[in-house]
Order: sequence, then structure tokens, then C-alpha cells
Amino acid sequence: MDGLARLEYRGYDSAGVAVLGDGALHTEKRAGKLANLREALEKRPINGDGAGIGHTRWATHGAPNDVNAHPHVDDERRVAVVHNGIIENFATLRLELEEKGCKFVSDTDTEVTAHLLALEVAEHGDLAAAMRSVCKRLEGAFTLVATSVADPGLVVAARRNSPLVVGLGEGENFLASDVAAFIAHTREAVELGQDQVVELRADSVTVTDYDGAPVEVNEYHVDWDVSAAEKGGFDYFMLKEIVEQPRAVADTLLGRVSADGRLSLDEMRLSPADLRSVEKIVIIACGTSFHAGLIAKYAIEHWCRVPCEVEVASEFRYRDPILDQQTLVIAISQSGESMDTLMAVRYAREQRARVLAICNVNGSTIPRESDGVLYTHAGPEVGVAATKTFLTQLAACYLVGLYLAQVRGLKFGDEINTVIAQLAAMPEQVERVLGTVEPVRELARSLAGADTVLFLGRHVGYPVALEGALKLKELAYMHAEAFAAGELKHGPIALIEDGLPVVIVVPSPKGRSVLHDKVVSNIQEVRARGARTIVIAEEGDESVRPYSDVLIEIPAVPTLLQPIVSTIPMQVFACELALAKGNDVDRPRNLAKSVTVE
Ligand code: G6P
Repeated sequence: MDGLARLEYRGYDSAGVAVLGDGALHTEKRAGKLANLREALEKRPINGDGAGIGHTRWATHGAPNDVNAHPHVDDERRVAVVHNGIIENFATLRLELEEKGCKFVSDTDTEVTAHLLALEVAEHGDLAAAMRSVCKRLEGAFTLVATSVADPGLVVAARRNSPLVVGLGEGENFLASDVAAFIAHTREAVELGQDQVVELRADSVTVTDYDGAPVEVNEYHVDWDVSAAEKGGFDYFMLKEIVEQPRAVADTLLGRVSADGRLSLDEMRLSPADLRSVEKIVIIACGTSFHAGLIAKYAIEHWCRVPCEVEVASEFRYRDPILDQQTLVIAISQSGESMDTLMAVRYAREQRARVLAICNVNGSTIPRESDGVLYTHAGPEVGVAATKTFLTQLAACYLVGLYLAQVRGLKFGDEINTVIAQLAAMPEQVERVLGTVEPVRELARSLAGADTVLFLGRHVGYPVALEGALKLKELAYMHAEAFAAGELKHGPIALIEDGLPVVIVVPSPKGRSVLHDKVVSNIQEVRARGARTIVIAEEGDESVRPYSDVLIEIPAVPTLLQPIVSTIPMQVFACELALAKGNDVDRPRNLAKSVTVE
């Protein structure tokens, strides 16, 4: 229970445990906070002396309730399993198992693994062999941890694309998705590699690949303290969440392209016929989510040729917007609880528009009250300023745009496939950017004394500039403003004075050269008036070098997708500048992660 509590920072909606004893599996599961499970266990203590497993859940498939909480067991309660990740082919497996007579009690993707493992154990009697053969049948991302009444001293676990760490104690060993869970007991650890299975007993740890061949493991010493461990070794959640972005974007794209290369967003609950009848799209959101919406407009209008408006949710319902059944309202909200966005959703539905939510929190209010939902899979975000959830919102918006183009027959399949492939390559590009941000940190520290920073961008670079300025306001409490680069000469240029830092997002020179060249002119205009230019441009774009006091290079990606990479230096810049000023970047003053008042 203490281990589960240490993982509390991940945020969760339900928790459960399974312990072996007297030849049986004893389980307890409760929706809500860990305290609910603790209370249930106090009322009805578990008497087990064998191995135990526990889990805190962040719902992806199935509402966060008692039944869907992990561990899951098979019909005969011989195997218990907990799971992180998403098993993409669970529907096919579930059908196959139901035909064999297995009874399912939950709506989770996880439950298939309990039945599959139990069938294998019944046949071969060996949980590790069962795990290996089951893993070969699973598609998607997973960490699985299982126990079986057949061997009460054994825990078997496996991983693919989801973390799993072994803690090595004396006469005791541990398994967790994060060292935080066992750091109070041991700091000696082994990180499991991709596609490996571990057999854990109190006195032994054996690691193999999915074929059963032994694998060499590297032990390491964890030098964090307990509180840092909860943040994965980072001083702040925000730093950790920035680094988690490649994984978050990859998870959001996961499972949304079918074998024939077509996008399948069935979970959206809006039929292709509904989407074909859409004549106008209105995106509503607040804060960072609003900026994701602004970027989505460029992609949706370009790919789908449907007019798309974007509006801050708090303004939307007070201006008597024109809505009807042919209007698709897209509500973007990380938390799914922002009151402004929720009220706008309710208003839109009263006007008979259809509402699609893009949301990160399964089962939250906005998706519950919408006609359809597309979840981002960023995982819990603790830092108040949105980072990884913004990138995943962009990925989700691009998916919606491409899906609309697909169902409306506006693009050839291969055109859509090309963009999907470009999107699929983004996590790798995000990783590359993260590897090159050290100079951005240095720059940020050097500007800790500045009073004002201006941000400029054009096209999709404009909302990125807005997001850069918002991050700086939120975290560093600085005066930061963003302008559409072309609008500069219509007023804001009067603000430029000697040494004023101006951050400029430059579009790719390869996409639309007119767009690129205009921004290069804007850089020269501010520089001529004394600004210190901080230029974010594509690698190899030599045309900006002569006018850049500081040049931050980002990888070459298609114009519309550039915000996924160009936002990252902005996040790092604001975070580092705020840290240099001694601010708490996880809990900036006056702000709340989820604002549930209007
Ligand atoms: C608050 C947070 C922001 C967030 C905004 C929208 O203002 O501080 O970081 O972008 O709410 O939140 P939502 O959960 O609806 O995306």
C-alpha cells in the first residue's frame, strides 16, 4: 500500500491489490483515491502470505469504477494480473475467449490477459511460459504483472513500450513501473528492456526474452531520495513531463491506424455519416488547449475544406454563435473539467450542434457530456502549466482532421497515409529536439533579469508564439506578448527598443517560401530597431543566420506539423527562466491545473 501511495503523483482513479494465501487469490479493488482501498482493507483484511500485486489505474478502456479497477482475474480466480498500457487487439482476443466460454466482467482491455494467462497455465502449469506465449499474441503497449495460485511465491512480469523496474532487496525483491514505489526498501534496481519477461521470487530474479532465452541485465544504483523519486529523478514534475513528450505523442497515435493504413477512430462515437454532414466546425477551449485549437484550424481547413472557427470557451456562449445540426463543435480540454469549456459544450448541445471532446482524462465531465470523444494518452500531468498534454492535443487534432478528410473522401488514401507516416515520425523528432535544448536553458538563465519578451510567428507559428508567451507568463510571471508577425508593423513594433528579446518562430523554407521569406523580413525589421533576436528555425535554414542573435534549430518537418517541435524550446525556455528566478514551476502562483469555476 505504501508503494502504491508513492505512485500517487501519477494521479489515478482507482486501485486494487491481489495477494496469494491458503491456495487462493484474495483481491480488493476500489474506485477513487487510494484511501478508499485502504479503508476497505481495514474493514476486511486480506490474510495472505504469498506474493502480492497492486495497481493504481488511470482509465483508458472502461470507466473508472470498482469492477474495472485492477487486478483482473480469470473465471476460476487462478491468475491475477495488473496492466499499464493499451492492448490494441483486445476486442479480437475477447471475442475468441468468449467463444471458448470465458466470462468477462469488466470493460477493460486488460481482462483478456487474465483469461489468456489462466488458459496457458492450465495447459502448461508454468506462469512464466504462459506470460511469454501470451505476450507474443498482444499488440500495443503494456507492462503486465501476474501471480497464480499454482505458485504462490512467484510474480511474473513482462513489458513492451511501457516501463517496468525491478528492485533488488535482501531476501525480498520488488517490481514496479517506477522506482518510487520501492525506494524506501532498496535503491538497487534493474530496468527491464523491451520485450522481456521477469520471474521474481523473494530470493531470485530471472530475466528472459519472449522466447525464454536468458537476458543479461544491468544493475544500477538509484541516487535519488524518496521525494525526488516520485518525480522520476527530476526536481520538478514539469521537467519530467517535458521529457515524457515523445512517449506521450506516440501513445496518442497508438492504435489509431488499422492494418490497411486507414485511420480508425471508432471510439469517437460519431458515425462517418454524421461527419459527412458537417458544414462548419467550431473549436472551443481555454488556455493552452485553445492554442492547440488555433493550430488545428490550419490543418482542418487545409485538409478538409470545412470552415473552422476557434474561440475561447468563456466568450463562446455569450455572443449568440450560429450553430445547428450541421455544426461540429470540438471541445479541447486536458482535464475534461474546465467549467468555461463545459458550459460552452452544454450550450452547443442545446443548440443541437454535435460535440466532439478531445480530452486527456478518461471519464471526466466534458467527454461524458459530449456526443463523442477522442482521448489523448499523455498520462497524468501534474505540473500546472500544460506541456505534454499540449503536444498530444496537437496529435489528436491532426488525427481528427485527417479522419474527417478520409470519411468525406477529400483526399486520396495515399495522401492521407503520407501525412500519417509523417505524424508517426514525430515522437522521434520530439526526442531529437529534447536532445538539443541545453543552449536554450543557458539563454533562459541569461534573460532572468529581462522585463519583457515578445514572441512572433506566422501561420501555425503564430499560435506557437502565443503558447510561448503564455508559458512565460504562467511560470516566470513576466510580461510576455505574442503577435502575428505580419501585424507587427501595425502597432507592436513601437515596443521594440534596444536589447528587447524577441523570439521568432520561422516556418520551413521548403514548405511555402513566401511564408518563410515574410518572416525573415520581420526578423530584420525588429533587429534594425535594436531587438535581440532569438530565432527558432529549421536545421540548415541559413537565410536566418545573419539576423539571429541566438539561433535555435529544430528538425525539418512538414509545415503544418511544425508546432509539435517548435513548441518544445518555448517550454524549456519558460521553465528554465522561471527556475532561474526561483519560482515553483509545478505550482505557479494564482493558477490552478483545472479551473472549475466560470
Ligand atoms: C488552466 C490551466 C492551463 C490549461 C487551462 C485549460 O488555466 O492552468 O494550463 O491550459 O486551464 O485546461 P483544460 O483542462 O480545459 O485543458
